[in-house]
Amino acid sequence: MPSVYIKTYGCQMTERDSESVAAQLVAKGYSLAASESVADVVLLNTCSVRDMAEQKAIGKMQNIAADVRRNRPDVILGFMGCMAQSRGQRLIDQLPDVDLVVGTQKFHRAADYIDDILSGRRQKIVETDAEQGSEAAIREHLLHGQAQRGRSVSAFVSIMQGCNQYCTFCIVPYTRGEERSRSILDIVAECRELAQGGVKEITLLGQIVTSYGKRDIPARDGKSAFVQFIEAAHEIEGLERIRFTSPHPKGYGADLVAAYARLPKLCPSAHLPLQSGSDRVLKAMHRGYTRARFLEILSQLRHVQPEIGLTTDIIVGFPGETAEDFNDTISLINEAQFDNAYLFKYSQRKDTTAAEMPGQIADELKEERHARALERINAIGRRRYESQVGKTAQILVEGPSKNNPARYMGRTRCNKIVLFDGSPRHQGQVMDVKITRTGSFTLYGDPAILNLE
Ligand code: 5AD
Repeated sequence: MPSVYIKTYGCQMTERDSESVAAQLVAKGYSLAASESVADVVLLNTCSVRDMAEQKAIGKMQNIAADVRRNRPDVILGFMGCMAQSRGQRLIDQLPDVDLVVGTQKFHRAADYIDDILSGRRQKIVETDAEQGSEAAIREHLLHGQAQRGRSVSAFVSIMQGCNQYCTFCIVPYTRGEERSRSILDIVAECRELAQGGVKEITLLGQIVTSYGKRDIPARDGKSAFVQFIEAAHEIEGLERIRFTSPHPKGYGADLVAAYARLPKLCPSAHLPLQSGSDRVLKAMHRGYTRARFLEILSQLRHVQPEIGLTTDIIVGFPGETAEDFNDTISLINEAQFDNAYLFKYSQRKDTTAAEMPGQIADELKEERHARALERINAIGRRRYESQVGKTAQILVEGPSKNNPARYMGRTRCNKIVLFDGSPRHQGQVMDVKITRTGSFTLYGDPAILNLE
C-alpha cells in the first residue's frame, strides 16, 4: 500500500483534522511516511488566518513539486483545510502539479479521493462543498504505533465546527462554515474510548468552542450546553484532565466560571483571545465585549482559581488603530498579567469587512507596535514563570522533549511546559515535580527533590 506524508500548518483544529485523516488512511492500509521525500502521497493541511500562513504553504508546495515530482512523477500532491477551502480550483490553476484540493467539510473523504486518483478513476479533484454531518466526521485517532509523540496520553477531541461570530478581521466563518455541533452522546463515546485506550487528558476543540450546542441543546439549570457537556465528560472514568480551545470571552458566563471551581478535572487554564484593549477597536472588530468586561472575566476566574494560567491572542495594527487605541492594549496587557500571549500583526483577509476598512496601517507601524507589545508580554511572562520556582506542580508527562530527547516533557494543570530528567517509565504519569528554574516560557522541574523532603 502507498505511504502518505501530511504536513500541518496551523492551529490545534488543523492538527486534529490531519490526525484524523492520517488515522483513516492508516485504517485503509496506508503507512505514514517519515518525510515528503519518500512518500507516495503528500498532503499539506493549511491555514488561512493570516496571509503569511498561506504563503508558507504555497511556497512549500512549490518546493515539493520541484523536488519530489522531478524524481517521482507519480507522487500525489494535495492541499487540505482552510486554504484549500478558500482558494479551491485556483490552487490547481496556480500550481498545476497539485492533484487534490480537499475543503474543510471533506476531510473524511480524503482517503476515497486518493483511492480515486491512484486507481485512475479521477485525475484532478477539487471538493469544497458544505456537507451536512461533517462536524461529526473528525473522530478517528492515531493513539499507538505511528502516533506523534505524546498523543497517547493527551488527545484532541473536535466537538464543534465553524463560527457565526463574524469578527471583522477573521476569515474563519468563510473557511469553516456555520457553527455545527456534535451530540453530547457521540462525543462522550469518543472520549470514553480514548480513556479506555490510556488517554488521561482531553482538549475539546472548536473554532468557538464555548458556543458548543447553543442552537440544539437548551440551557438547563442556568448551564449552557457547553458546561453541560463538560459535566458529562467529567464523569468519564480514567480521564483526569479536561481542557478546551478556543473559547470566546462571551462564553464565560457565571456557569463556566463556576465550573472551574466545581469540576476538579477542568484544568485551571484558559486561552482567552483579547484581540485589543481599546473599546473602540473591539467594537470595530465585532467582538461583543468591552475592555472592562474582559478584565472582569479574568478577575472572576482568578477569584475561583487563583493560580489559573491565562493566555491570549492580540492583534496589533487593526485598521484605524490610533496611538491611543494601541496604548489601551498595552495598558490592558499590564493590567491583565497574562502568562503568555500570541501577538499578531493585522493581515487583510479575503471576504472580511476589515479588509475594506479605511485607515489600513503601514507595515512599519505594525512592526513597531508588535515589538512594543512583545516586550511587555515577555517581561510579564518571565516574571510569572519565575514566580513558580520553588513551588511544587502536578504534571502529566507526555513524552521525551522534542529538542532534547534525554529530557522529558509534561504540562502543569495551568498548561505550562515542564522539562525534567526523565525516562520512559515516566511517560503518561501524573506526578509532582519541584520547579527549580525557568527558561523562555518553560519551567524546569525535578521529581527527585520531592522524594528527599
Ligand atoms: N490578522 C491577524 N491576526 C488574525 N487572527 C485572526 N485573523 C487575523 C488577521 N486577519 C488572529 C487572532 C486569532 C488568532 C487565531 O489569529 O488573534 O485569535
